[in-house]
Amino acid sequence: MKRSLIRYVLDRGDYGTEVRIAGWVRTRRDSKGGFSFIEVNDGSVFSGIQVIADGELPNYETEIRALSIGSAIAVDGILVESPGAGQKVEVRATAVRVYGYSDPDLYPLQKKRMSFEKLRDVAHLRPRTNTFGAVARVRNALAYATHRFYQERDFLYLNTPMITASDAEGAGEMFQVTTLDVAAPPRRDGAVDYTQDFFGKPTYLTVSGQLEAEAYASALDRVYTFGPTFRAENSNTRRHLAEFWMIEPEMAFADLADNAELAEDYVRYLFRYVLENCPDDLAFFDKWVEEGLLARLESIASSDFRRITYTEAVALLEQADVGFEFPVRWGTDLQSEHERYLTEVAFSQPLIVTDYPAEIKAFYMRRNDDGRTVAAMDVLLPGVGEIIGGSQREERLDVLLDGIRRKGLPEDAYWWYLDLRRFGSVPHAGFGLGLERVVQFTTGMQNIRDVIPFPRTPNSAEF
Ligand code: 4AD
Ligand code: MG
Repeated sequence: MKRSLIRYVLDRGDYGTEVRIAGWVRTRRDSKGGFSFIEVNDGSVFSGIQVIADGELPNYETEIRALSIGSAIAVDGILVESPGAGQKVEVRATAVRVYGYSDPDLYPLQKKRMSFEKLRDVAHLRPRTNTFGAVARVRNALAYATHRFYQERDFLYLNTPMITASDAEGAGEMFQVTTLDVAAPPRRDGAVDYTQDFFGKPTYLTVSGQLEAEAYASALDRVYTFGPTFRAENSNTRRHLAEFWMIEPEMAFADLADNAELAEDYVRYLFRYVLENCPDDLAFFDKWVEEGLLARLESIASSDFRRITYTEAVALLEQADVGFEFPVRWGTDLQSEHERYLTEVAFSQPLIVTDYPAEIKAFYMRRNDDGRTVAAMDVLLPGVGEIIGGSQREERLDVLLDGIRRKGLPEDAYWWYLDLRRFGSVPHAGFGLGLERVVQFTTGMQNIRDVIPFPRTPNSAEF
């Protein structure tokens, strides 16, 4: 017999048919009548399925009664109507095969609820809990929806390098990649001799695939990347990781308004997709993690995103009757508390803030005619703040060069990026969306460490 995922068994629900399922035991309860209830979950669906194992089964006393939380089994049986509340079908076992026992005294997961913090110490086992199974399924749905969204709009999926010699954000927050002996690197004239390093020069893990995406957009019109991104920023917050996944679309012949429109369509598409495809998981988050989550997702999936300029945002913040930890005035970067005030209090809707001061934004953003702002945009959502950062790119060679020099960046390293402005330069724009921030928003999970399978943060790279 072919094994079925529990999701299909529950969906079909045709009584009387033979099925084979397999998974991990959540609970076993023995009845006085000489049989046992075993709840089995294989992660294909939020709820597991209940198995009735009769005392007459040949391995009932020897094996079945030794099953406990975490054991792995396969069950052959007949699908029958369930008398219990909360489930329509259950499996009356004709055979139970044990793959692996799990010592209940040693197994770190307990039936009772454990804190998310504790579960981080057993990140290799936490996918077996309701919450982390649901997070994994929602994350998967968001990744799939991302590909669908861009493929439907003729964007080409592009794989950009993870090892790079250029700092795409110019912020110097990169992890170095080297094969040199860090305890005793070769030296020439007192400095480390990188000509002897693997790539013959210093290299790093990428902070963004944008610069390479611009090269491909300058030939193929519309592209998107979807890959791991690394930032050595030492910020121990609930929204920062040292390794996260970013989706970066890039469009040729496009300006900031086109960019904002794409971002809005994309974010709404993601929420609609998850609402349609993960109803059980979202219902769980709504009940146990964040009350009102479903209503909020539904409202954002159908509402317009409001556009305001940075200058307008700062004016609002200056007038706000709130004691911010970080003071605001024109020229300072918006902190998370400011972003949240804007989307939660001032407007209570998603916002696209545009035209930030050039001083606080990356070198590649297109300078506006006022000379002091750039065509930047951040998309802010209630609860998480910034989920998207993007801009129209500076396509004028002289202005771009001026920006690189003003920021004190090494002009030579960007030679090929500058070439794109020498040969057939066109207006173009793009943005980056942090996948984990969206998973946070769609699940209501407070800490970003709980929406990526194995989080990387300062002083933490276990698993
Ligand atoms: O605003 P950022 O730094 O923009 C870029 O990297 C551009 N190159 C994107 C582009 O225009 N192609 O990052 C984009 C998004 C942020 O809005 C945030 O959602 C996420 O990436 N992000 C992080 N997520 C988790 N941990 C971190 N340390 C993050 N840093 C940025
Ligand atoms: Mg940003």
